[in-house]
Amino acid sequence: MKLLREKVMNEGIVLSNQVLKVDSFLNHQMDPVLMREVGAEFARLYQGEKITKVLTIESSGIAPAIMTALELDVPMIFARKNKSLTLRDDILVEKVYSFTKQETNEITVSKKFLSNEDRVLIIDDFLANGEAAFGLARVVEQAGASVVGIGIVIEKSFQPGAKLLQEAGYRLDSLVRIASLENGTVTFA
Ligand code: G4P
Repeated sequence: MKLLREKVMNEGIVLSNQVLKVDSFLNHQMDPVLMREVGAEFARLYQGEKITKVLTIESSGIAPAIMTALELDVPMIFARKNKSLTLRDDILVEKVYSFTKQETNEITVSKKFLSNEDRVLIIDDFLANGEAAFGLARVVEQAGASVVGIGIVIEKSFQPGAKLLQEAGYRLDSLVRIASLENGTVTFA
């Protein structure tokens, strides 16, 4: 995706060898034109796969996920990170560890929004260690639904998530893949 690569090149700030700041278009301020293109691209990649739901995790996954869902004409669900006030019986819960933040979150999705007939496309903004994507996949599988694929806006290919997801048998589609952030420079894969 040319526009996404340009945004990463022109507006991405390399904070360290591990972290790319993209708060001008993806993680804080969001670029709707870019998000529309991202949604159109994921929808093109999964056309014909009979996706019934798009699933993401709050908060930065919501924009690319809603645009994808709009294009595919299906509902979008975002997993919540905060504790739900509803009965535990009604929710699917998985633990997700963040290496970046060194904390474990419980992510939750209401059981009423996922059934064993659903064919789910998981969308997220970043792929690093894959913990969020694996957690979302476990939520889908807990519901007896199928993970058709995982769509990522920015994959950091030098971190283990992409390889681990593919080894686990998931279809993975990343719109840009970053090979390295060394020397303060973004190198695409
Ligand atoms: P993982 O899920 O792939 O294992 O990633 P990790 O635990 O390392 O990521 C934790 C959070 O940090 C996630 O956001 C993820 O999107 C974000 N993140 C990971 N690498 C980068 C990076 O290089 N740059 C930026 N800007 N973010 C990164 P989150 O905590 O869920 O935040 P949000 O979605 O509420 O914004």
